[in-house]
Amino acid sequence: MPPSPDTGPFATVGEAAISVLLTSDADAKADLAQKVGAAWADGALRFAFGDAPPADRPARPDRPELRLPRDMPRRRAGGEKGRFALLHSLAHIELNAIDLAFDMVARFGPDQPREFTSDWIKVGSEEGKHFNLLNDRLKALAGTYGDLPAHDGLWDAAFATRHDLLARLAVVPMVLEARGLDVTPPMIDKLVRAGDEASAEILGIIYEDEKDHVAAGSRWFASEIAAQKLDATATFHELVRRYFKGDLKRPFNDAARTAAGLSAGLYEPLADTPKSS
Ligand SMILES: [Fe+2]
Ligand SMILES: [Fe+2]
Repeated sequence: MPPSPDTGPFATVGEAAISVLLTSDADAKADLAQKVGAAWADGALRFAFGDAPPADRPARPDRPELRLPRDMPRRRAGGEKGRFALLHSLAHIELNAIDLAFDMVARFGPDQPREFTSDWIKVGSEEGKHFNLLNDRLKALAGTYGDLPAHDGLWDAAFATRHDLLARLAVVPMVLEARGLDVTPPMIDKLVRAGDEASAEILGIIYEDEKDHVAAGSRWFASEIAAQKLDATATFHELVRRYFKGDLKRPFNDAARTAAGLSAGLYEPLADTPKSS
């Protein structure tokens, strides 16, 4: 059958998710993520998956150069150069987030209800939108994604949890994306103070969407905990301690976390010790 211009060349949601993961060019990956999101929302993709799980690592562009965290240049505090570096590192996180969402669908979707796929396709599509917003802003600042070295190792948590849905949900949406809820509002304030309203506005859009991503993580964690008849808090603590290196960092955005289904009893015991004043 010839590919339809409206739905893309994919018949099933599994095929479509895998093809996002296999797209190496960053702009093409972000665009395809949003197209697959729209096709799924339109009912243009069948709820079916192939037999093989996705590859251990998704395809990535040649640039940026990936470096170990310890070899990354220190980010400057202010100025346009510093803001470019900040937005570049956020774009890198969003590109990774596209793959995390579509890997969630392709890897764990076959064993979950259809709504699981719907939730993570929507997340992946929004991550594609976030990447585009940030990369458009980088271009307005006279550069592009790929111009600076980027953090290697963002996929490590995904790789380590590739056989365990509860571990994946605990570490990715409920720890890493929840961290975004803590750090984004202060970043927005900083950008506004620097007079960069355009970048602040983009981070505002991302912040609102990310609340839903964390909430989806909490919801599916609770559902799987119930299915396996486990204790939510004890299991969360055990999985985060096993798969997430280091302590969770204060200060927490308690209001946004609670609204996204994360109780303080889940994350507080995993936090670093508060600084004495
Ligand atoms: Fe995002
Ligand atoms: Fe997200």
